[in-house]
Amino acid sequence: PTGAVEVHVQALHVFSKATTPPFMITEKTQLDDTADQFNVDEDLRLKYRYLDLRRTSLQDNIVKRHRIITAIRQHLNEAGFIDVETPMLTKSTPEGARDYLVPSRHHANTFYALPQSPQMFKQLLMVSGLDKYYQVVKCFRDEDLRPNRQPEFTQLDLEASFIDEAYIYQLLEPLVRNAFSVAGKTLPDNFPHISYDEAMEKYGNDHPDLRFDMTMVDLTPHLNGVNFKVFQSIIDAGGSIKAINVKGKADDMSKNMLQEEFAKKIVPKLGAKGMAWMKAANGTLESNIVQFFNDDQIKAIQTAMQTEDGDVLLFIADANTALVNDVLGRLRLVVGERFGFIDKNKICPVWVTEFPMFELKDGALHAIHHPFTQPEDKFMTCNSKEEFAALKSRAYDLVINGEEVGGGSIRIHDAKVQEKVFSVLGLSDADIKHKFGFFVEALGYGTPPHGGLALGIDRLVSLILDTSSIREVIAFPKNRVAFCPLTQAPSTVDNAQLDELRIACIEEEEDGD
Ligand code: AMO
Ligand code: AMP
Repeated sequence: PTGAVEVHVQALHVFSKATTPPFMITEKTQLDDTADQFNVDEDLRLKYRYLDLRRTSLQDNIVKRHRIITAIRQHLNEAGFIDVETPMLTKSTPEGARDYLVPSRHHANTFYALPQSPQMFKQLLMVSGLDKYYQVVKCFRDEDLRPNRQPEFTQLDLEASFIDEAYIYQLLEPLVRNAFSVAGKTLPDNFPHISYDEAMEKYGNDHPDLRFDMTMVDLTPHLNGVNFKVFQSIIDAGGSIKAINVKGKADDMSKNMLQEEFAKKIVPKLGAKGMAWMKAANGTLESNIVQFFNDDQIKAIQTAMQTEDGDVLLFIADANTALVNDVLGRLRLVVGERFGFIDKNKICPVWVTEFPMFELKDGALHAIHHPFTQPEDKFMTCNSKEEFAALKSRAYDLVINGEEVGGGSIRIHDAKVQEKVFSVLGLSDADIKHKFGFFVEALGYGTPPHGGLALGIDRLVSLILDTSSIREVIAFPKNRVAFCPLTQAPSTVDNAQLDELRIACIEEEEDGD
């Protein structure tokens, strides 16, 4: 490129001939369709991943991933942690997904499970007295497919004995800061904390994006007695009316856009029945529904929403408060993205704490984090499903820019508490013995109080390098449908191999009509 170097060829020897590659290996190669001739289908890129990886940017991602993991290892090594490997052929570890099973040839008709995480093994290491453990480890989860999920992914998994939440925060904050510094990015000195309840209340989810405000405000208490039927019937049904204030965007959000696009298209897609809006102008509020609100109610809205002329208020109301939180929380993100409220250069980490221990769904209790998380002390004296559902736990998540990067908890170290958690989750005594007998038994041999956490390395690296998907920071990822276009896995196998495993495949039935 400089034109300053001239090469005089004396001999030419071809080491290896090259076939014409199936697509142009250039940085212009991209997934979107801004430059047609360079647009390459992602499956084609993944089929020829070894060529795709010749691109500078992708290679740079893999190199930086290495540097980030090296920085993390160094931090933990210096803090006295040791790297211990745990088995890949093992028994099911409940993390909320389905297991990938591996049939055993030696033990006919039995199966290993690939670990969803090393959770039980790392806790067993604490029973052993290996007080500070970490591992950069593959985890396997047969989950519903979502953009930032891979069927196999990498965790930085760690655990330590005789610690509390504060220890984890103090260990992790500089670790995450070091990791971001690989890309020259700085993070705040102390990460803020937010309780699960407050996150749900203000942001509508447990992974709040703190890069911008526009928090949700509950107007239900101010609007009882309102003349607007939609709202009053929702109040009567015990529901909620909540709103966000889109600061200073009245000129950018026309009445037509609010009614035709937001209320009729965007919001129904997010799952709510409707959306109401008001604009702050001339010291009062204007909209198609203000006539149904009296002066006190208008004042109350203005005060609660801290309106100034030029602001736009968006309201979601429903008899189901959880739905209001969810939809308005996602509407906040849509509006934040579209109207430029999200500063893309900002990195906003936050610890989400005080998670509920259980979730009551369709009459059954499920663990919100996982069943090894320590519930509040009063757990042992609770009896009813409602009491269990109201309990908090000692779990914490690390969220960065609205994405869950890691999660962990202080664990149960008392076998009796552990058994009771399993039984509250609906496991019979026989089930507990069959699935977790070894683990509960181990807890009985003098287990130190302990806790830990796991960071999703792929998500963390993707955030640090600001890539469009986690596949861009994994050398050989699966595609969106958990398939590997390069090796064509998963694939059929020989009958001989199946016979040895005593497995018979059931042919997919032809579609009758
Ligand atoms: P958890 O299930 O929250 O915790 O997982 C920890 C982190 O791993 C990442 N992650 C994923 N990344 C990519 N693809 C996936 N399918 C996927 N699933 C999870 C997320 C998540 O925050 N054993 C506990 C940790 C503990 O309690 O110490 C656990 O696995 O970033
Ligand atoms: P309607 O009575 O359906 O014509 O609605 C009157 C106004 O209330 C419109 O501006 C709707 O968009 C709004 N609206 C209807 N349902 C809801 C809801 N669930 N939450 C908030 N606003 C709503």
